[in-house]
Amino acid sequence: MKILAFESTCDETAVAVVEDGRTVLSDCIASQADMHAIYGGVVPELASRKHVEAIAALADQALEKAGVSRSEIDAVAVAYAPGLIGAVLVGLSFAKSVAFALGKPLIPVHHIRGHIAANYLAFPDLKPPFMALAISGGNTLIVDVKDYTDMEILGATRDDAAGECFDKAARVLGLPYPGGKPLDELAKGCAGGVYDLPRAKVDGAELDMSFSGLKTAVVNLAHNAEQKGEELNGPALAADFIRAVSDELVPRAMEACRRRGRKVLVAAGGVAANSVIRRDLENACAKDGVELFLPPLKLCGDNGAMIGAQGYYEYLAGNTADMSLNAYATREIGD
Ligand code: KG4
Repeated sequence: MKILAFESTCDETAVAVVEDGRTVLSDCIASQADMHAIYGGVVPELASRKHVEAIAALADQALEKAGVSRSEIDAVAVAYAPGLIGAVLVGLSFAKSVAFALGKPLIPVHHIRGHIAANYLAFPDLKPPFMALAISGGNTLIVDVKDYTDMEILGATRDDAAGECFDKAARVLGLPYPGGKPLDELAKGCAGGVYDLPRAKVDGAELDMSFSGLKTAVVNLAHNAEQKGEELNGPALAADFIRAVSDELVPRAMEACRRRGRKVLVAAGGVAANSVIRRDLENACAKDGVELFLPPLKLCGDNGAMIGAQGYYEYLAGNTADMSLNAYATREIGD
């Protein structure tokens, strides 16, 4: 089954053709990151307008690269939530018109389910059940993936997402947007241990997380140093910051595995590209006897193939939509 898949929830317009949920025939991405970098973060209206400009040509490109004609497409999948609402609406409206014009089923896909499904593309033998740590620019979740379309959130951030926190910390250190990768690189080779940064705990909800205090601590350190005319130790702050984020994520993901008796852990989302978090997950999983799946770097960030992968399993579960399908800025992964 060949699915034409659309992703436009943030600042990447992406269209892919995926066969049977596991084989990528094409995966075309038009990133807007350079444009938003001027402003230090995503400007939602500009994102929507760029999606409008790019999406039709990208769809043609995805079909051409896959060597598939329009009539050979069996279904159309689209990320319908969560995300920047104007941006999501562009992909959704386009996907609806394609499904209508081709007379093919329309499959709504939750963006974070897509991030998790990126692993099905990289690891042909991976099957639920497993625990997932989904860490991206807008979401931070620990999810019990009981089956391809049956998921339960065990832990979530109460405020900012891990990626949002990376981007803000990078900005105050003068690094370009999106800041996760430059911050990762700045910290390389530095042991840290210079800055004492907070770790949050949510009373009565040990698997929930909070990143706003950490973000504020880094912003305050930078402002105080500026006011006093002092130099910050950039690599040490980057290293201590990443250690603090990893300390929030990794032990909780392991605890979730223990609670549910899961012996497989899957990482997903842009922040899963972080070298320290990847190493910490490897060490923790080796210690606890948990098999770890880390997506290749190119499948960590937003892409269309992940929507095509999850779209296949949504289709098999009967989750298709009619032309009244709407977009949602927020939506639980289990809905
Ligand atoms: O999954 P993604 O592409 O978009 C969303 O669905 O939100 O994630 C983007 C986020 C950004 O916040 C970016 O800074 C972060 O992923 N990121 C990283 C790294 N590479 C990208 N964060 C930490 N370390 C990295 N190496």
